[in-house]
This record gives sequence, structure tokens and C-alpha cells, in this order.
Amino acid sequence: MPEAKPTPAPAESPRKFLNASLLDAAQGRMPARAPVWIMRQAGRYLADYRRVRALFPNFLDFCRSPEHVAEVTIQPVDQIGVDAAILFSDILVLLPPMGLQVEFQEKRGPVVANPLRDDAVIAALPDGDLNSELGYVFEGIRLSKKALGNRVPLIGFAGGPFTVASYMVEGGSSKELARLKSLLFSRPEVFTTLIGKLASVTSCYLREQVRQGADVITIMDSWAGYLGPHEYRSLVFPHTRKIIADIKAEFPQVPVVHYANGAPHLLPHFAQLGADVLGLDWRIDLGDALRAYPEQIFQGNLDPCALYASPQQIAARVKALKAEVGGRAHIYNLGHGILPDIPPDHARAFVDAVHEQS
Ligand code: CP3
Repeated sequence: MPEAKPTPAPAESPRKFLNASLLDAAQGRMPARAPVWIMRQAGRYLADYRRVRALFPNFLDFCRSPEHVAEVTIQPVDQIGVDAAILFSDILVLLPPMGLQVEFQEKRGPVVANPLRDDAVIAALPDGDLNSELGYVFEGIRLSKKALGNRVPLIGFAGGPFTVASYMVEGGSSKELARLKSLLFSRPEVFTTLIGKLASVTSCYLREQVRQGADVITIMDSWAGYLGPHEYRSLVFPHTRKIIADIKAEFPQVPVVHYANGAPHLLPHFAQLGADVLGLDWRIDLGDALRAYPEQIFQGNLDPCALYASPQQIAARVKALKAEVGGRAHIYNLGHGILPDIPPDHARAFVDAVHEQS
């Protein structure tokens, strides 16, 4: 008897969606209706999220419960009408497999108990494939895909290496990233060891996400804009480009989105990363970005605070955004995560305005 062939990874068979507008736009096709999703769309502004969140005193335990992950991943698809689901997880789930203990505190956000303060510890960090310790993420992807059926694509994600390194070295959120940048400027070879290891772990992790069902990959290098062009180009860009090249080599059809916050000065470099889509925040005029990079697909870039305004004002703001986009393929989104006190009706008003005006 010949051995049974392993089931092909879902990524190898064409996936058909009832609503493929996000994939269309990401690949440069004009979708029938403009796609929109919301950064942090599975989050505290939704009462049903807070209900599930309350079951877990520890945020990471929540991330480690695939049934609950799938439940909150599809909530914004059902309740807000977005055109994609994003896996509920966090960029910092990579820390424990790398030997760093992280805890999410109510007021302070992530806190790392053993931040990287010693070059020898960085040299000894693991490298390569840590996927065996992240099985709960992949199970969350499989269950989310099941719950979504073929309605909309599922976005998988990881942090960009600079942003994940910032939490590992600073020990939590930080205003200036002074410790990480001190490492970069004073001992660039140690910085490079750290970023290189993160890039190799992240490359393995993201490709496994695709094998398990993710239809789109987002790399969130939120804090890359803390760097000037010279340091970004020489010390971070090659590593992010390698992650994207690895994904593209294995899955040429899977769109990759790169997001950074407050980094319009790095756009010339982001445009060369090999990403299909660049996520922008609100500090740049979309029309200017599109004029500078006419072939580039962008995502964004409504100010998250715009959702405090009335639904009518939100619709007017979307109209202005649409005028900047000028009929090109575009993925509508906020320029950063939705804030926890935004009324869900206002999130719906944003999504409806994008849909109705296209
Ligand atoms: O977008 C989604 O809905 C998917 C889930 C998601 C979370 N975090 C859940 C989360 C995603 C994509 C992230 C990414 C993430 N996490 C980033 C990159 C994007 C960005 O926002 O810049 C970063 C920098 C983090 C790190 C992180 N996680 C911080 C700084 C915090 C604390 C601040 C905060 O918002 O509370 C988190 C916690 C976190 N991650 C929450 C959620 C829903 C809130 C925790 C809670 O529900 O108690």
C-alpha cells in the first residue's frame, strides 16, 4: 500500500470567499465594494469581547484558549460587518518561547519580568522554528477558519522585529525606546543578533500561520518610526525584507501587509520591502502617498479618534478619505487600533460609510 499522502495545506488549494474584496484590493484588483477592517477590531469596545475577556484574569491565558480565540475573532465580522477577520492574539506571544516572561497589566500594558539587559543572554536566545510552543495559535487559526466558513478571509500576524525587540529590551511600553536605541547605536552587532533571531523566529511562525489557514499576513512594526531612515535601512529593513521574501517564496499568492505607526519618513524604504500593502497612520495625506507611489496599495488611515465624532461626521470624513484615494484599490482601516471607549455604532458607521460610498 502506498503511504497516504498528507492533506495539502489549505494554502495550496484556491480559497473562494463570498466576500473577497480585501484580497482583491491587496492584489491590486478593483473590488466591487471597497474593503474595510479595523485594527484591534476584536477588542474592548465590544461588549461581547469584554464578556469573554472577563473569563481570563490573565490575558495570555485568553490568547492560549483556541475556542475563545475563535469566538472573539469572528465577533467583528458578525457585529460590525468588516471584510476580514484578524486572528485574536498578540505580537508578544513570541516572548515566552524565547524565554521572556510577559504579563499584561490592566493599567500598564505588557510588563516583561526578565527584560534583555545582558549581551550574553541575547547571544543565547533561541533562533529558528519555535512553532511547537505556539500550537495554540495555530489551533485558534483552524477554529477561526471553521467558524468563518467562506465568508471573509482571515488575517494572521506577527510583530515586526524592531517592535517586538522594543518590548524585550525596554521591558514594556516606552516613550523613547532609549534602551533599545542605545543598544543599536552602541553595540550594533548585538542589536543585529537580536533582530536577526526575531526575524528567523517570525518567518517560521508566519509561514506556519499560512499553512494552518491564514489568508493574509500582516507584519506590525508599529514602532519602526522611532528610527531615522539611516538606522532603519541598515539595521532593520534587511530583516523585515527577509521575512517577507521567505513568505513570498513559499506562498506567492498570499498578500503581505506591512504596518508602521508614525513613519511617513520611512515610506521610501517600506516601498522596497516586497510587501503587497503598506499600512499608514493618519499623519500622512493618502493622496500625497499615492502620488509618490502610484503603484503601491495602501491601507488606512483614519485617525482612531475620528470615531468619537457622530456617525454623520464619520461618514463625511470617509468621503474625504475616498476623495484622497481617488478610485484606486485601497484597504480602508484606522491608522492605529480602535480605542476601547468607541461606541460600536460608530465603528459600524465607519464600515457602512466605506461600503455605501463605493
Ligand atoms: O487587531 C485585533 O483585533 C487582533 C488582536 C491584536 C491584539 N494586539 C490584541 C490585544 C493585535 C493584532 C495586536 C497587536 C499588537 N499588540 C501590537 C501591534 C499593533 C499596534 O497596536 O501597534 C502591539 C504593539 C501590541 C502590544 C500590546 N498588546 C500592548 C502595548 C498592549 C497593551 C495596550 C492595550 O491596548 O491594552 C496589548 C494588549 C492587547 N492586545 C489587548 C488586545 C485586545 C488589550 C488587552 C485586554 O483586552 O485586556
